[in-house]
Amino acid sequence: MTKAQKEAFECHWETYGLDAGACSLNFCHIFGNQFPVWLEVGFGNGDVLIEMAAANPDTNFIGIDVYKPGAGRLLKNIAARGLSNVRVMCDDAVTVLQCAIEPESLDRVLVFFPDPWPKKKHHKRRLVSADFVHVLSERIAPDGVLHLATDWEEYAYQMIEVIDSSGRFVNDGGTSGFVDRPVYRPETHFERRGARLGHGIWDVLYKRKPA
Ligand SMILES: C[S@@+](CC[C@H](N)C(=O)[O-])C[C@H]1O[C@@H](n2cnc3c(N)ncnc32)[C@H](O)[C@@H]1O
Repeated sequence: MTKAQKEAFECHWETYGLDAGACSLNFCHIFGNQFPVWLEVGFGNGDVLIEMAAANPDTNFIGIDVYKPGAGRLLKNIAARGLSNVRVMCDDAVTVLQCAIEPESLDRVLVFFPDPWPKKKHHKRRLVSADFVHVLSERIAPDGVLHLATDWEEYAYQMIEVIDSSGRFVNDGGTSGFVDRPVYRPETHFERRGARLGHGIWDVLYKRKPA
C-alpha cells in the first residue's frame, strides 16, 4: 500500500470499514436507515462504487474486495467525498456472504469484471461458480437483481449457464441473454483495459425469482 492508502486505513476504517464478526451485519444499525442495499463484489480501485454511491444517495452500498490497496484508495475517496452511504469490507466475498449477510437482505449484487482466469486448468478459480450463485440466491431478496459484467466471452456464457442452472433467477436479457450496460453502471478500470486490448463487453442481468 502507498503511504496515503495506509493513512486512509488508520483514519477512516473505524468510520467506513466493516469487519465480518461472529454475527450477521445489521444494515439498519450500520447505515441508520432502511434504504435498499447494493453489494459490489470485487470493487478493485473502488472508483465505480464511489460514483454509484454519489449518484444514488437513497441506496446503501457495501463493497467487498480482498485487495487492500484498492480498499485504502476507496476509504480515502469516501472520506474526501463525504459519502455516508458506503461501507468497505476487506475480506473474501464468499465467506462474507456465507457468514455475515442475512438471508434475502440484498437488493442488488454487482460483480464487475471478475478475474477471468482464461486458462482451462484455472477455470476452477473463477468466482462465478455454482456455490457462489447458490449463496447469492439465498442472500438476494425476491425480485432483487444480480448484475455481472465481463470482457471475456467464454466466461460470460459460463455465467449464464451457471445462473440458469441454479433455477433461482430469471434472465432479463431477452434472447441473447445479455443486456446493454445499464446507465447506473459506470465504466470500470478493467473494462477500459479490456477495451484497449480489443475485448468485447458482456453485461448479464438476472432477477431473483419470488420465494
Ligand atoms: C479483475 S479485478 C476487477 C476490479 C473492478 N471490478 C474493475 O472492473 O475494475 C477483480 C477484483 O476482484 C477481487 N476479488 C477476487 N476474488 C475475490 C474474492 N473472493 N472476494 C473479494 N474480492 C475478490 C480482486 O481482488 C480484484 O480487485
